[in-house]
Amino acid sequence: MNACDYQSFADTWERRATIRTRPRRTLENDDKLIYPLSRQPLVLSDTFQRECPQQRDFVLVQTLYKFINDVVIFETEIVDKTARNIAKQRFAVPFPFACRYDAMTVVIDEDYHALVAMDFMQQTIALTGIEPIALPTQIELSRAIPAAVAGVPEPLRDAVELICVAIAEHTVTNDVAAFAKDTTVKQSIKHLMADHLLDEGRHSGFWSRLVRIYWQGASEADRAQIARVLPVFIGQYLTHEIHAAFDIHLIEQLEIGASIKHALKQEVGALTYPVGRRHPLITNILRLFTNSSMLDSACVRHALADYLP
Ligand SMILES: [Fe+2]
Ligand SMILES: [Fe+2]
Repeated sequence: MNACDYQSFADTWERRATIRTRPRRTLENDDKLIYPLSRQPLVLSDTFQRECPQQRDFVLVQTLYKFINDVVIFETEIVDKTARNIAKQRFAVPFPFACRYDAMTVVIDEDYHALVAMDFMQQTIALTGIEPIALPTQIELSRAIPAAVAGVPEPLRDAVELICVAIAEHTVTNDVAAFAKDTTVKQSIKHLMADHLLDEGRHSGFWSRLVRIYWQGASEADRAQIARVLPVFIGQYLTHEIHAAFDIHLIEQLEIGASIKHALKQEVGALTYPVGRRHPLITNILRLFTNSSMLDSACVRHALADYLP
């Protein structure tokens, strides 16, 4: 596919975008969980279940706040920025008007997702009376994208940013799907996640088509330079340093003795995912490389050797 073959999804957006079709979701006051247990292993640990099971809901509410905070950072600081630059033709990679129009719908969707997330933050504080503890000001991508961009010469930096955002937009789907299936979680939270997932299905296709257009027009020399920074990006993106630091901070806030805090920190410290081909997000990441045709290039396969099956 080249830029001339690009088909806009504007009609689909008019019919299906959640900002066009979904009602405001209201958090219900019932006995269901506010966050899936499977997404916060701290509460499933032996020490937690033995020593402070009554603090489970506090931990789940704080983890929801962290999740919401991450969504707001991702949408407004990462995806919005790149999509807006494409829409406004401020991007080093030129795209036709149809791409730029679709990029503007992505800006609208992402800012709306951030608004909905902030709405749930407010509703949760009102319902539970629990104020958020100090939340991180960055997500892993806030560091991983600049690190990858810094590894190529100036003319290739926007292309690297595009590829990084496209990778990230292929992985949110997994995150959100885990919520949508869980029957122990509040219906409104599941609706929130399902709404988000609906828009993200459209986005992942958008980003992989843009990367494909760029990649097909890139020289072998440019491709080789970009391929070299891909492992830098993936390695930093898949670390859970910020999340682990949040869990430690959260444990500090629990009303338990110092020795139990110490034991909980040890248990969550042992939980981190391996950065390698067994990481659960690798399948999604490889899907972008396949759909965009990047994996057809030997330099990309070589750079990603550690992650390929
Ligand atoms: Fe989103
Ligand atoms: Fe998105």
